[in-house]
Amino acid sequence: MTVYVIYLVIAVNSVATNALFIPRSLPEDALLNFTGLSEKYGHKAEEHSVVTEDGYVLTLFHISGKRKPPVLLLHGIHDTADTYILRGKSSLAITLANTGYDVWAGNTRGNKYSRRHIKLNPDTDPTFWDYSFHEHGVYDLAAITDYVLNATGEQSLQSIGHSEGTTNHFVLGSQRPEYNDKFRLFIALAPVAFLSNLILPVSAATELGPLINQVLLALKIEELINEKGIEKNLLDLICNKEDIGYELCFKGLILQGAGYDPKRIEPEFFPTVLGHYPAAGSRKSLLHYAQVALSKRFALFDYGPEENIKRYGFKVPPDYNLRQATMKTALIVGRNDNLSRVRDVEYLRFLLPNIVEYHLMRQKRWNHLDFVWGNDMPETLFPHIVSLLEKYS
Ligand SMILES: *[C@@H]1O[C@H](CO)[C@@H](O)[C@H](O)[C@H]1NC(C)=O
Ligand SMILES: *[C@@H]1O[C@H](CO)[C@@H](O)[C@H](O)[C@H]1NC(C)=O
Ligand SMILES: *[C@@H]1O[C@H](CO)[C@@H](O)[C@H](O)[C@H]1NC(C)=O
Repeated sequence: MTVYVIYLVIAVNSVATNALFIPRSLPEDALLNFTGLSEKYGHKAEEHSVVTEDGYVLTLFHISGKRKPPVLLLHGIHDTADTYILRGKSSLAITLANTGYDVWAGNTRGNKYSRRHIKLNPDTDPTFWDYSFHEHGVYDLAAITDYVLNATGEQSLQSIGHSEGTTNHFVLGSQRPEYNDKFRLFIALAPVAFLSNLILPVSAATELGPLINQVLLALKIEELINEKGIEKNLLDLICNKEDIGYELCFKGLILQGAGYDPKRIEPEFFPTVLGHYPAAGSRKSLLHYAQVALSKRFALFDYGPEENIKRYGFKVPPDYNLRQATMKTALIVGRNDNLSRVRDVEYLRFLLPNIVEYHLMRQKRWNHLDFVWGNDMPETLFPHIVSLLEKYS
């Protein structure tokens, strides 16, 4: 969703942008990858490759720890495993590692760590980008889960998802119910299934979704915000500009959509974020979310009536059957989260059969990105996460 807004603004701004924007020097943490950050903050991380049933090669990071069961972290849209370690000492990955947990951090297909396939070339085969949160759930999360269980010899794991990372769990649980037992507990931070109560400006961006999709199709753009691509370069140029970068990008652009609390994500932290976010993703991913928002249904991808009949046997795509997503689930929600809206999460809560906890963050201004980047997470969020992990270990 955020990326729609970014696209609009880039479209408007690109003409006006020129080489006068000189990036300030970036902090070290903006440049280190997951492994580098992990080492810097005291833990050696291993890199594993997981191959999905349909041939995507995903990078999975592992910070080894003695506690059982293992804990899997899954990121949101246009994000990577880095999101859970960006805050260094105050990040979730390092906090869990310091507590002795066996931490695994996944990367879904298409992001910079998982831009690989056994046959398809992401640079030349558009079919590489033919995926949405559906495939992230049905194939990526399934493969990652099986890999972690096999590697650890455990029967089940605990899992934490943020935003799209939660959608992936809801999809897997409802499409492949045999997977539910593999999750001892799933903690959903800023859960996203229904997007029926969006408000401006996200709702406007969503309404423009199908139109933007047509434009991208016409331009043959399947991959959005490639690491080395023009959009990312433009963003870096504009956003790193000393005086206006924070105002324009953080307040006006990147976070207008996803939402943040300026007290929790301070200007000094912004360049670090920009070194890691937004990461690449597919056109189809955003279109699928736009469909969910516009139809007010958490349903499979809508290919149009003809193709839908071929694929699903119906003119309209079927709903994800959330009643089948029986894994133990804790929903953690921010009152000021304008993407994962409280009313939408309440409806999700009503449909999911095995909610073990529904927790509304006490902080009134708690927002979407505060769950991964907020500077007070060690006091406000992590104790709660750790007590849930303990309770269901
Ligand atoms: C992380 O960075 C290190 C050092 O630059 C490099 O050796 C390693 O391959 C990188 N890992 C990934 C997964 O990009
Ligand atoms: C399971 O783990 C063992 C070693 O722990 C490894 O040899 C085997 O290839 C793994 N299987 C899969 C499907 O990853
Ligand atoms: C979220 O929406 C409310 C209105 O419902 C608004 O007051 C608030 O400023 C919005 N928060 C953000 C971070 O956009």
